[in-house]
Amino acid sequence: MNADGSAESDRNGVIAITGVTGFIGGVVARKLSAAGWRVRGLVRSRSKVGIQLSGQKNFAIVEGSLADLSSLRQLVEGSRAVIHCAGAVRGARAEHFNQINAAGVAALVRITRETVAKPSFLLLSSLAAREPQLSFYAASKKEGEQQLAAAAADMPWVALRPPAVYGPGDRELLPLFRLMEKGVAPLVGAAQARFSMLYVDDLAAAIQSFLEQSAWPQAIYELHDGHPGGYSWDEVVALVSRLRAQKLIKVRIPLSLLSLSANINQFIAQLTGRQPMLTPGKIRELYHPDWVCDNQSITAKSGWQPKVGLEEGLKITMCWR
Ligand SMILES: NC(=O)c1ccc[n+]([C@@H]2O[C@H](COP(=O)([O-])OP(=O)(O)OC[C@H]3O[C@@H](n4cnc5c(N)ncnc54)[C@H](OP(=O)(O)O)[C@@H]3O)[C@@H](O)[C@H]2O)c1
Repeated sequence: MNADGSAESDRNGVIAITGVTGFIGGVVARKLSAAGWRVRGLVRSRSKVGIQLSGQKNFAIVEGSLADLSSLRQLVEGSRAVIHCAGAVRGARAEHFNQINAAGVAALVRITRETVAKPSFLLLSSLAAREPQLSFYAASKKEGEQQLAAAAADMPWVALRPPAVYGPGDRELLPLFRLMEKGVAPLVGAAQARFSMLYVDDLAAAIQSFLEQSAWPQAIYELHDGHPGGYSWDEVVALVSRLRAQKLIKVRIPLSLLSLSANINQFIAQLTGRQPMLTPGKIRELYHPDWVCDNQSITAKSGWQPKVGLEEGLKITMCWR
């Protein structure tokens, strides 16, 4: 048994991770290197690597990108597993998402199979892949899973489909938390919509639970914080009100206003190449009624169980700033 109670495993091998300058990849890299794994991270710019990560003694950097095959070869060489966290989450064009979230996966899988003797590959997909018709992002995540399955042949792989992931360091939900701190709760999406959530450390723990397994099953798993049936926005707002001991003013943002902003963003993006978050596709994702998921399969396979509920996760997240 290891000191943290996990099964005995060989932590001498290198774990190659992409996306370590991002929200999720950064946490995954920090957690794994703190748990004793030797981590090698792909970065597009060294200057983006935070002090917490660069200070880890068993963390090394490879500079490059998903489009630079020699950097990918350097990244995966001699590794025991590849954890692919890099991805495009903002943008207005299908080609932008497909190039990173689908072609990028295919390239990394091919290089891994060519370079590594006994590779294992974990793809961070998204629950959005369950509804590829909604947005360019969702379609590209689904296509990424398909590229993985097609290019992997007999290589063991796992794809995880997290729902909305939150925690300290997440820039996408930060504006929402800031508004709530000021006492305002913007309500976007359909009133009856329900969604699961996941605290980022639990996602990192799920990834680690696969590294402790000897056989990876070539399968896709959903995962969430264990709250059955997910949440409605009203429930999240009520929880924040309770945590802050302050009633929040709920402001429902009309769909027409959201659509107008999204269309303006889309137009500006076409002129400038900017990658906006709010697009017509993102609105279709926001209005989708069912983003609830289930842990049964992943827990049966890996033994992973979430530890951080929304109340505790929000407390940690909101104290962070
Ligand atoms: N956040 C969520 O709620 C959530 C939920 C479900 C699934 N996911 C998935 O989780 C993954 C990470 O999301 P995140 O929230 O951590 O996003 P993020 O903070 O935007 O991080 C994205 C990471 O990918 C890197 N990257 C992007 N394009 C790249 C390229 N062409 N070559 C190399 N690296 C590239 C970025 O590098 P730079 O720092 O250089 O830009 C960054 O390190 C994504 O695949 C996303 O689909 C996220």
